[in-house]
Amino acid sequence: MNRAVFFGFFVLFIGLITFNGITVNAKKSGEDITYTKHAQPIFEKRCAVCHNRMPGTNWMKYSNAYRKRVKILNRVSIKRDMPPVGMPIEESERELIKKWVDGGAKE
Ligand code: HEC
Repeated sequence: MNRAVFFGFFVLFIGLITFNGITVNAKKSGEDITYTKHAQPIFEKRCAVCHNRMPGTNWMKYSNAYRKRVKILNRVSIKRDMPPVGMPIEESERELIKKWVDGGAKE
């Protein structure tokens, strides 16, 4: 294979990777982040142990989560003291909660 042909394939290859990357990202950011599909499962998994017994801050109910969405954003994604130290949560889940609130905390 001569160098020009090799270079041609190389450029094509990089182009394909970049193109795929862009389409995947566009899909991700275009998708609506909703309570039902995204936030509620995180609340269920990471917060229910404590909050399902706390009236007013039972995040398993959309009305509560929506009313306190700014506080949730603050404690989970900014101050990061919820869930309390020692309780498990993923970085991606903190980000998803932020995206949910930033996107209008849709149901
Ligand atoms: C280990 C138990 C526990 C877990 C797990 C937990 N919390 Fe809490 N949370 C508390 C307690 C206790 C309070 C009340 C004291 C305080 O504000 O720090 C509280 C308070 C809060 C408040 C403030 C409510 C208000 O009206 O001011 C928010 C918001 C909150 N939690 C969000 C969450 C979210 C979201 C999760 C899951 C990602 C979570 N918490 C997980 C125990 C927990």
